[in-house]
Order: sequence, then C-alpha cells, then structure tokens
Amino acid sequence: MFNLKINVNSEWIEREIPDGLRLLDFLRNDLGLTGTKEGCGEGECGACTVILEGRAVDSCLILAAQCHEKHVITIEGLESEDGLDPVQQAFLDNGAVQCGFCIPGMVLSSKALLDANPKPSDDEIKDAVSGNLCRCTGYDKILSSVKLASEIITSETDEEEDQSDKAGE
Ligand code: FES
Ligand code: FES
Repeated sequence: MFNLKINVNSEWIEREIPDGLRLLDFLRNDLGLTGTKEGCGEGECGACTVILEGRAVDSCLILAAQCHEKHVITIEGLESEDGLDPVQQAFLDNGAVQCGFCIPGMVLSSKALLDANPKPSDDEIKDAVSGNLCRCTGYDKILSSVKLASEIITSETDEEEDQSDKAGE
C-alpha cells in the first residue's frame, strides 16, 4: 500500500491506495470523478485525459502513486464561480458535442494547450488533440471551438491589459 498525497482540482487529498492503482481508477472510483472516461485503457483514445502538472496525460497509463505531491485537474475542476471555463463554453456555444464521451478529454487537451499557448496555429491545435478520438463528429467543430476559446481568452487578456494600462495612466 502507498500513502498518496495529491492535489485534485485545487484540493489536497491523502489516501492509502494499492501501489498498482491507476490514476484513472483512483479518480473515478475513489474520488467519484466520473467525468474522466475509460475508452481503450491502452493510451490510444484520450477519453481518460486529465491535466497533470500542466500537461495533458492519459490517466489510464499513469499510476496514482506516480502523482504523489502533484497537481491534477479533471473536467470537474474547470468550472469556477465565474462559470464555465472558456474552453467548455466554446464547445457548448459551437455545438461541438454529440454523445459527449470524448469531450472531457478533448476539453482538457485543449485547455492544456491554451494555458501554454493562448494563440495556437491550426496545426498546433490539431497536434494537441491528435491523441483524442471522437467517434461522432468530424473534427471541424472541435477545432473551431478551440479557436473560439483562444479568441475568448486572448480578448479577456487584452481587456485586462487595457484596464491596467488605464489604471497606470
Ligand atoms: Fe486512456 Fe483510452 S482510456 S487513452
Ligand atoms: Fe461522441 Fe466525441 S462526441 S465520441
């Protein structure tokens, strides 16, 4: 057994867990965070994507014990008191969701990209979600949703910079 200390969605949690427990099972079964989906269980579909220390990773391929003293964000952790994350809102506004099974992983891969690179090129977006498979859609609406999220995020940043410039005048 392993004494795990892990930060999930901004909350530190301590649990005794089996050494071989996958992060995916820890999130879904121990914490009840069932927004993280299991598709292939082999690192091929991206349905289990979470953000670990700022990087999108397949939680089916990582042991919970490997995340000791690290920060994990799941789809449940994106919404704040201000509402949905811009990436979630863009997917919603753009009608990019059909059955929804792939969407938590798609959103988290997109979120990790935009956190690191708020103005990605089309190729960078395609690369970021290339590990996330969707059986329902063509990928056009997903790609345009990430672009829309990028526009929302960068316009918010520009507004904040304008306000701080005015405050400094
Ligand atoms: Fe992890 Fe498919 S369930 S990549
Ligand atoms: Fe159904 Fe992507 S919306 S798998």
